[in-house]
Amino acid sequence: MEAGERTEDVFNISRLYLYIDDKAILKNISVKIPNNSVFGIMGPSGSGKSTLLKVLNRLIEIYDSKIKVDGKVLYFGKDIFQIDAIKLRKEVGMVFQQPNPFPHLSIYDNIAYPLKSHGIKDKREIKKIVEESLRKVGLWKEVHDRLNSPASQLSGGQQQRLTIARALALKPKVLLMDEPTSMIDVVSSQDIENLIKELKKEMTIVLVSHNPQQAARVTDYVAFLYNGELVECGSSDEIFTSPKNELTKKYVIGRIG
Ligand SMILES: Nc1ncnc2c1ncn2[C@@H]1O[C@H](COP(=O)(O)OP(=O)(O)OP(=O)(O)O)[C@@H](O)[C@H]1O
Ligand SMILES: [Mg+2]
Repeated sequence: MEAGERTEDVFNISRLYLYIDDKAILKNISVKIPNNSVFGIMGPSGSGKSTLLKVLNRLIEIYDSKIKVDGKVLYFGKDIFQIDAIKLRKEVGMVFQQPNPFPHLSIYDNIAYPLKSHGIKDKREIKKIVEESLRKVGLWKEVHDRLNSPASQLSGGQQQRLTIARALALKPKVLLMDEPTSMIDVVSSQDIENLIKELKKEMTIVLVSHNPQQAARVTDYVAFLYNGELVECGSSDEIFTSPKNELTKKYVIGRIG
């Protein structure tokens, strides 16, 4: 796809097959994800979106079922399966569908704890990063006077923004987001969409979305998966105005998925 020619690619996936218990879940996926873009992954339930996303920070390996991968995935030109997984996950952050803050930790510690576990010990620095991260996601004003309250006291939308702040605190190069707005209300979704647009100035975002309208609003490029295969991939302008494939066409007008 032409997107990859314009800027450096964060991910270059070629002929990727992924099998779980000998069943092909991803089939012959080739796609390039350019730097500083919002790259959408769309497709109906079960099409392999989350699986593909989890390859990108190698979370896929933590499954206990038998996993086999064929093909190549390069992260900034390097074989992703040769990179130390802990280092990779520091650079490639992830936000899940269900907000998953550490519920019993305070709002402050939700962000401070991962920093400490990555070797940042200086209290003043931690404090600074906590504030910066909360400001980035628009939470600072809402929570600055109750940083010691448990994260479970926040609303769903606030919890999701907290998990984004937690990921941002580690200054990732990439943020993987798996349907980050599907469990929260419209207003909170809007906040997160606006945040995504801001964040792409400093990082690459790979966004799985079930919602074609949302994908059209926030993504620059989009890949459409169906049954583990890549049906179509290109700039969002193209895909949403003149999709080439019949399946993509039906999906973007909301007839499938
Ligand atoms: N750990 C696993 N063991 C066995 N099968 C799995 C596992 N993870 C995913 N699958 C299968 O892989 C296929 C793709 O799943 P995946 O979660 O990637 O779909 P998805 O596109 O994210 O769907 P949704 O929109 O419902 O989240 C499904 O058929 C699913 O059952
Ligand atoms: Mg999924």
